[in-house]
Amino acid sequence: MSFDVAADAYDSFMGRYSRLLSAPLADLASVRSGQRVLDVGCGTGALTVELIARVGSDAVAAADPSEPFVGAMRARYPGLDVRRAPAEALPFADGEFDAVMAQLVVHFMADPVVGLGEMARVTRRDGVVAACVWDHGGSQGPLRLFWEAARSLDPSVDDESGRPGTREGHLAQLFASAGLRETETTTLSVTLEHPTFESWWEPFTNGVGPAGAYLASLDANRRAELRAVCLGQVPSEPFRVTAVAWAARGLA
Ligand SMILES: C[S@@+](CC[C@H](N)C(=O)[O-])C[C@H]1O[C@@H](n2cnc3c(N)ncnc32)[C@H](O)[C@@H]1O
Repeated sequence: MSFDVAADAYDSFMGRYSRLLSAPLADLASVRSGQRVLDVGCGTGALTVELIARVGSDAVAAADPSEPFVGAMRARYPGLDVRRAPAEALPFADGEFDAVMAQLVVHFMADPVVGLGEMARVTRRDGVVAACVWDHGGSQGPLRLFWEAARSLDPSVDDESGRPGTREGHLAQLFASAGLRETETTTLSVTLEHPTFESWWEPFTNGVGPAGAYLASLDANRRAELRAVCLGQVPSEPFRVTAVAWAARGLA
């Protein structure tokens, strides 16, 4: 899945949830001062900023295949080592990093086993590889209200539930297939308050990710219909969305 969208559009859509995952994922990977770390699929920098706060920008590298996101990262963090590359072909030497993380990326990789294998390759022996992916395969993802509404109108919709790592246990299987050792799994949970329905809905209209692309593919009538179903489903304003991500850490 390519993210050929403006960084601000991502930030207001998925970034509003993903930035809340960054500290828990960095904790899971035991990131601490003195280490050299890599953020794979850095997007607009939700996790990168947490890593910079922990180890300093000289000890952080970031990679993402999206041209607009890499451009935004270079503008936001001048001097940071940001590479335009997919997980499956990381432009780093073997064993360069103490910890390598991918936050909400495995389900977008063309080949998750190859991508995680590359993450392991650039991690030193006994260093940590960690990743998390929303529970789109269960009922606790941040977009569940949207996808439930979409499914009610079109049962054949591709609602991300079949993507790699999004169902319980699958991330650990992918880690094992990629050769990671001593894998441990957990869940990370975040809660975000939305002041109004409109503030929740509007970012879906910017074409970001599978949900935004799906909405953009509908004609005006179908879009209005989907919006009306969503409006009928949300609790009274303001309302909270609690979202759960499957997470795993393993040793290289
Ligand atoms: C949902 S965003 C997550 C961005 C960021 N990590 C965050 O937590 O906000 C998914 C990111 O994965 C990137 N991506 C897509 N395919 C990828 C691949 N094969 N390898 C690495 N990153 C990929 C996208 O460009 C996008 O930035």
